[in-house]
Amino acid sequence: MRIDIITVLPELLKSPFEASIMKRAIEKGKVRVYFHNLRDYTSNAYKTVDDYQFGGGAGMVLLIEPIDKCISELKSHREYDEIIYMTPDGERLQQRSANSLSLKKNIIILCGHYKGVDQRVRDLFITKEISIGDYVLSGGELGAAVLCDAIIRLIPGVIGDETSALSDSFQDNLLAPPVYTRPSDYKGHKVPEILLSGNFPKIENWREEQAYLRTKNLRPDLLNED
Ligand code: ADE
Repeated sequence: MRIDIITVLPELLKSPFEASIMKRAIEKGKVRVYFHNLRDYTSNAYKTVDDYQFGGGAGMVLLIEPIDKCISELKSHREYDEIIYMTPDGERLQQRSANSLSLKKNIIILCGHYKGVDQRVRDLFITKEISIGDYVLSGGELGAAVLCDAIIRLIPGVIGDETSALSDSFQDNLLAPPVYTRPSDYKGHKVPEILLSGNFPKIENWREEQAYLRTKNLRPDLLNED
């Protein structure tokens, strides 16, 4: 998989890709991530990437021209499955869309900034708009890092234990069951007996039951989704 990220602040984005699972996925060759600084695609001496909005009002708007140049340059080299725009008014990110994006070959992620981008960018180039939650960030960069983490960990071979990602919370619309590790008794607080029993079918049943109970208590809305 290849991910191209277009941003005015590449330095805000880079460090999550230099640590942990995303770093490992890049080192293993499971994913290639490229950062494109919008300022490199400007045609004026001041490298301006934004301007005031027509009609007046506070806040700057990202210009269409450098975005067009950058996306056109990328598209001249390969086909893209999705061109995603990170924005608080996009579709809320869910495990389901992370699953399907993890199967794509090439994607572009455009990070919004200031007041957003010229609407014509959204109309002409964007195939999918994603929000990571109902709150406003200063830009799409942190959202893009969250989206990439959610996608990259699902690429086959990225997480050592292949079944691990599939047993995460939200797969099957259920939260994950509680997990425990040593010691089995910490200051009198004991691990559930069943987990020490060695009876794996029973343990599996217990986990399913716990996942259901946890979901019912904490996120009953998930049980009503299809
Ligand atoms: N840019 C600003 N706020 C955002 C959000 N909540 N999700 C994605 N991108 C954003």
